[in-house]
Amino acid sequence: MVIKDNQEPVRLKLHIGDIVDLNEEFKGVAYAIKQTMVSAKAHVQDLLREELVKAFPDKSNFNPTFDEINSLEFLNCVVKETLRLHSPAVMIRRTNIKDKVFGNYLIPKNTIIMISISGLHKSPEIWGPTATEFDPKRWLDSTLTENVSNLNFLPFSAGARSCIGNKLALVEFKVILSILIRNFVFQITEGSHIKKRNFVSSKPYSHFEFTISRVES
Ligand code: HEM
Repeated sequence: MVIKDNQEPVRLKLHIGDIVDLNEEFKGVAYAIKQTMVSAKAHVQDLLREELVKAFPDKSNFNPTFDEINSLEFLNCVVKETLRLHSPAVMIRRTNIKDKVFGNYLIPKNTIIMISISGLHKSPEIWGPTATEFDPKRWLDSTLTENVSNLNFLPFSAGARSCIGNKLALVEFKVILSILIRNFVFQITEGSHIKKRNFVSSKPYSHFEFTISRVES
């Protein structure tokens, strides 16, 4: 990481979790920052900052209400797109309590069923040919999301055993990401990669290098 602040850049090797004290679930913020930096659709970070500057012109007075933070359309898209491609829960397990027929398959009672959230979230059948691309704007285009439902976009699972912390998680994710993007510009160092570790939950594996500059106003 290189910090530019009217002085010689200082190169530090830090994990993104050293900058933001994130618990396991909120490591998703690291993916969001990284994606806004290296997205093939350029300017994602700029677009997000524009929205934030408009909503909160005075960055020293960033104290959004629940409704205010949730009204930011592009922020919502960035968070959803990050949770789609980098869902912390990659898989959930269920056991059927009675025999069930799905299509041509009989699933006998007490079968352990693994549901691949990360597989569903990258399926071209659901998300189309750009399924693996980070494109927050897809959430604004109904033709790209017509096959999406709360049964195939599952960052917090669905139904009776879905995540009870999802609203808190989403708002915390949005607030942390907003503070970072409103105050700093992140530029990834060429050739630096963020690796993924999928064990119970998905999280970044090693450090990645980038330059941070302050946003002046
Ligand atoms: C980005 C952050 C989070 C993600 C992606 C997430 C995701 C999930 C998922 C997928 C499940 C279902 C697990 C399963 O059925 O095997 C779940 C369950 C649960 N989550 Fe979260 N979660 C997050 C944050 C939180 C937070 C902040 C809380 C508490 C404040 C929380 C509390 C719970 C609880 C209690 C359950 C179990 C519900 C039940 O079994 O009835 N989660 N979460």
